[in-house]
Amino acid sequence: TPHAVTVTVNADRPGPVIDRRIFGQFAEHLGTGIYGGIWVGPNSRIPNTRGYRNDVVQALKDLKVPLVRWPGGCFADEYHWREGIGPRGQRPVKINTHWGGVTEDNAFGTHEFMDFAEMIGAEAYVSGNVGSGTPQEMAEWVEYMTAPAGSLAELRARNGRKTPWKLPYFGLGNELWGCGGSMRVEYAADLTRRYGTFVKVPAGTRTLKIASGANSGDYHWTDVMMREAGKNVDGIGVHYYTLPGDWAHKGPATGFDEAAWARTLAKTRMMDEFIVRHSAAMDKYDPEKKVILALDEWGTWYDPTPGTNPGFLQQENSLRDAILAAININIFSRHADRVRMANIAQMVNVLQAMILTRDAQMVLTPTYHAFKMYIPFQDATAIPVEINSPWYSKDQWVLPAVDAAAARGRDGKLYVALVNADPNRGASLDIAVPGSRVSGTILTADRMDATNEFGRPEAVTPRAFDGASLSGGTLRASLPPKSLVMLAIE
Ligand code: AHR
Repeated sequence: TPHAVTVTVNADRPGPVIDRRIFGQFAEHLGTGIYGGIWVGPNSRIPNTRGYRNDVVQALKDLKVPLVRWPGGCFADEYHWREGIGPRGQRPVKINTHWGGVTEDNAFGTHEFMDFAEMIGAEAYVSGNVGSGTPQEMAEWVEYMTAPAGSLAELRARNGRKTPWKLPYFGLGNELWGCGGSMRVEYAADLTRRYGTFVKVPAGTRTLKIASGANSGDYHWTDVMMREAGKNVDGIGVHYYTLPGDWAHKGPATGFDEAAWARTLAKTRMMDEFIVRHSAAMDKYDPEKKVILALDEWGTWYDPTPGTNPGFLQQENSLRDAILAAININIFSRHADRVRMANIAQMVNVLQAMILTRDAQMVLTPTYHAFKMYIPFQDATAIPVEINSPWYSKDQWVLPAVDAAAARGRDGKLYVALVNADPNRGASLDIAVPGSRVSGTILTADRMDATNEFGRPEAVTPRAFDGASLSGGTLRASLPPKSLVMLAIE
């Protein structure tokens, strides 16, 4: 028998706007995330425009990616921007010490990134080098990108870009507690103030400064960073990765059992508690919620695909990832007042990717499709929901079977996102909603670990949903096991 679930959608009590930037992405110089995945160079036999893969660019445009963070991650705190400008081929070749020890020829630098962001219609979130660079180097990078005049602007023009770029977001280092310099937060907060002081942009433009934030449940970090540097920044990050196991044995991306399914989804729901408690630490110093909370790295992290370079963080992406993405997006949208940005790790070929490529082939992952189904949530108005769901459990892992979020879209329609995390039982829902017509899409598959593969790219793909009806103000929906459903109500 299906779970009986009631959901109350409080359409008459609209909440804050769900910032489209919670659908942001992250593209690091890591494995084939950039090289091969986005950039193949203008001379490649893979169809490309000025070096960017046509297939990937089109897929990202279709996804309406609002924002992309670059160049890292850990890579950011060893990146020296001057090595990535000027004629390609004359740029220095370095070792990517964090990610696989492979060579980095700097073919993809500031111009290539900014051009890419413009091509896909996304805003740029550039992370500066606090860990191993100087404030001067950082200040000059910002000047190079944004100044209308002066010798750095002239250098930029000689390198092909006369008009200054917009730089809406700038990160002051990455994971300063770890790969960004192994700092104590007291020291990191001082450096955040110092480096942030020299991030200057021309009058009439604005660049929001994002402090390097805490690792998952490290509330002390947020507390001290806010206390000491909260007035010097516009946002503060938090990173939380969902691992089925622990860092030594993360667990496979596919071929897992039901206990691993339940454990992964139960662990990802900790995101809610992390947001609540980091927000509480921020509220102490910023009760008006001027500083944004940016979940600027999140997603699943599994054992690497067997046979691949473990430093490349390559992993399969299954229906479990799509369900997990939906659970997180629902959490972000329920905290839309403080969570104004999130960047899933990562965009292409790395960790919980939207897109996988192999030579000239491309596949859209289940996570891509989940993100696509949520496009109507971008800049929509959050609508509070109350969910009364039975539990789903396996072994000691327990979570509500059904999760829901709602939003009033910019097109005026009411959107209700429903996730049934139970892989064995369906759910039947009663929802009181204003409206007279309902339509929907569903993402599900026969197996918990179903993937889209090269040569079989459509296995997990959204389809029209016919399991909902609406009459007399009551919407009835029956969700199959392990499914994500997006309803549109008019
Ligand atoms: O996304 C992979 C890595 O995870 C990032 O480079 C780093 O910031 C985090 O530890």
